[in-house]
Amino acid sequence: NSLTPVQAFRASLLHCVSDPGENDAGAVDYLEDGIMLVANGRIEKIGSAEDLLPTLPSEVPIHDYRGKLIVPGFIDTHVHYPQTDMIASYGSQLLEWLNTYTFPTEAKFADEHYAADTAEFFVNELLRNGTTSALVLGTVHTQSVDAIFNAARGHDMRLIAGKVLMDRNCPENLRDTPESAYTDSKALIERWHGQDRLQYAITPRFAPTSSELQLQRAGQLAAEHPDTFIHTHVAENTKEVEWVAELFPQCRSYLDVYDRYGLLRDRSVLAHCIHLDSQDRKRLAASGAAMAFCPTSNLFLGSGLFDLSAAQSVGARVGLGTDVGAGTSFSMLQTLSEAYKVSQMAGQSLSPYRALYLATLGSAKALYIDDHVGNFAINKEADFVVLDWDSTPLMKRRINAAQSLEEKLFALFMLGDDRAISKTYIRGECAHSRDLS
Ligand code: GUN
Ligand code: ZN
Repeated sequence: NSLTPVQAFRASLLHCVSDPGENDAGAVDYLEDGIMLVANGRIEKIGSAEDLLPTLPSEVPIHDYRGKLIVPGFIDTHVHYPQTDMIASYGSQLLEWLNTYTFPTEAKFADEHYAADTAEFFVNELLRNGTTSALVLGTVHTQSVDAIFNAARGHDMRLIAGKVLMDRNCPENLRDTPESAYTDSKALIERWHGQDRLQYAITPRFAPTSSELQLQRAGQLAAEHPDTFIHTHVAENTKEVEWVAELFPQCRSYLDVYDRYGLLRDRSVLAHCIHLDSQDRKRLAASGAAMAFCPTSNLFLGSGLFDLSAAQSVGARVGLGTDVGAGTSFSMLQTLSEAYKVSQMAGQSLSPYRALYLATLGSAKALYIDDHVGNFAINKEADFVVLDWDSTPLMKRRINAAQSLEEKLFALFMLGDDRAISKTYIRGECAHSRDLS
């Protein structure tokens, strides 16, 4: 990959420097008419156009996006690429949905051509939606992971993925074993972890589909490779929670199953975290693990309402996830819109700045990739999105009526989707342009 030595981007620039919490405007940095200098794919400098323009050598190209808003690329902390073709499948809650739609679809990934085709579509769909990094599940097949890493590498994306581990309570043709789960994952770690911008996640699907022996082997692998990720689901649906209590009677809670097998640590990411108690939340936060909040999925499957305030009050890392294909959109803007409504249902609120944080720096911290991406701190990788305030007639009209940046931003989050993503840049190179697609 050849990166442009030096280039400048002129637009309104907005990013988070810390967690705005309920509403702290000091946690964001905004330049109405800003310049971002990118050198070899990294943020070199950011400042007002007034200050920086006179200092730019004449040979530095300036991308003029005045009238648009540049924010850091969105980070999706939980998504299933193999479920792309079954998004929006009708009529059931988690366990029935898995049996009816998910398992038959995932069985198709035994075919590496189908996997490669889906992976390429998926990665393009992320870019169309302004998502520049993601934590992704494959299927039980190792070739599904090769396919998604190959696709991500082709677009130079910072992406984390892993092979699903499951050896019981699922169709025969989707089962691995404790031993093959270990050796196949280990081989994939050796092949992919740390290559370019790719990292590996050890991925037991969820407690019901792994035997105790398999969970133990997963924990062993995690201990042997402490800089890999651990990725799973927890406490999503009440029937699932009851089932886990029957399968693991010795464990205090669903979360405790993972804890006993050494699967709660830095770089563990647990999707959903709806039906947790306060002891679970404290333990999760203290372990260094993160919660992935997946509002469109939780509403679509009727799973329940994530408690963002409770997560925040114990200091847990929280990222935002689309959870496609239970989630109904690849758009992190649509996901924020649903996150806001979920918060409203709990009598909480989600400020526009905190929403931005959740989709960017907060998710980067949840994935422990905030040394590399998540905001425009000097030297970070220049993954960013150019947002269009006028992406639909309605949005244009609403934004024109808005009085403040916060009001505009909130309307963009509530009304926006892939049409609001004018451009997506990966390490300073244009990876998607709405005009051209
Ligand atoms: N729990 C176990 N597997 C899955 C899955 O594929 N999607 C969701 N939403 N929850 C799960
Ligand atoms: Zn999921």
